[in-house]
Amino acid sequence: MTSTPHAPHANHAALLGSPDYETLRQRAHNLRWASVEEGVIPLTAADPDLPAPRAITDAIANYCARPHFCYGPAAGLIEFRESVARHFARTKDALIDIERVSACNSAASAITLVARHLIRAGDEVVAQDPVDFLVTESVRRAGGNLRLWKHDNGHFTLDGLRAALTPRTRALCVCHPHNPMGSLWTPAQVREIAELCSARGIEIISDEVWSDIVHDGNAFASFASFGATAASPWVIYGLSKGFALAGLRIGAVIAPSSARAADFRAHAGFDHTIEGASTLSQVAATAALTQCDEWHDAFLTHLGAQRTHAASRLTSLTGVELARLPEATFVIFPRISATGIDEVELATRIAQHARVRVVPGSPRWFGEGARGHIRLSLACTRATLDEALDRMTAAWSVITAS
Ligand SMILES: Cc1ncc(COP(=O)(O)O)c(C=O)c1O
Repeated sequence: MTSTPHAPHANHAALLGSPDYETLRQRAHNLRWASVEEGVIPLTAADPDLPAPRAITDAIANYCARPHFCYGPAAGLIEFRESVARHFARTKDALIDIERVSACNSAASAITLVARHLIRAGDEVVAQDPVDFLVTESVRRAGGNLRLWKHDNGHFTLDGLRAALTPRTRALCVCHPHNPMGSLWTPAQVREIAELCSARGIEIISDEVWSDIVHDGNAFASFASFGATAASPWVIYGLSKGFALAGLRIGAVIAPSSARAADFRAHAGFDHTIEGASTLSQVAATAALTQCDEWHDAFLTHLGAQRTHAASRLTSLTGVELARLPEATFVIFPRISATGIDEVELATRIAQHARVRVVPGSPRWFGEGARGHIRLSLACTRATLDEALDRMTAAWSVITAS
């Protein structure tokens, strides 16, 4: 890769802007540009290469023009909490009282805090397998005993959930939409899961950090829409994926009720300034949720095209299979077991021979159920994606030689 910026595909270039690779090589850590050798393309951690929208940088600059960086309200800025509530009403079929919303320092932190709040050592907690490691890690850190909800042919079904639940199950921790499989439950399925858990007195923790990346106009229903009913889902939200703000570490917890939100904040230390989100990040996030619709539409169009393109190119490689296109997320998770090479070895060989980094579907990242897959992030320009896929294609016979 040279440092020449590549424009995103089609007409969205002007709106989306171009990555500045020199800056990415300095700032994009966590397995990405700043943590790989020069010349390597990192399709690894799910963090967009594209710059954040202009409205966000303007909002940050405006805030900084009056340079008082004081403590903000413990639960978060009212405007941030309102923007989250309105965003959920507009795009996720959930009417939320802002008293239920707490600003958090990232989705990763939010899910860990909620798990600690709800789960006691030894509690039984059901989580999907495979799933992003943050979901299971949050349960482990809280001392929960994991039971796994196995997928059925790529679908997490109600029957699979029933098989995982026991009379001792205290909580269900899910990723919706699902990383790494890119799957999405319909609103009816969300309701069924919420009702099943409600009937058994099981708390739901739903990590919805991916809910701003839903393809093909599919409906997304948040578990938060069931907060006012007997079911009591806790929803985790964040802006790393939908608005390219990973480094600002900004997200939110939506509790089942305002009383439980207040309990959560008291327990986690928000009221004592131990927890809470950076005010500047909340200002940026508020701009994202209120002023960036056009940018976000262009981003989604770009990602949808990347997904179709990557799927067709990847499945032309011998031994690479994809049962269906991801319905959500900007990751793709092809099955590679037909290459006869395990996921860690294959990812190592791809790095070595194609100078492209991908994430192996290993237990470390996604659980046992991810074996035989690799995950690639597609939140880059078409030129970067094609360069990566060209290199993999050119080296594929060497990569897969036994
Ligand atoms: C399921 C899931 N939860 C949480 C996160 C982390 O989000 P944040 O950057 O807001 O901590 C990720 C990032 O990949 C994710 O995939």
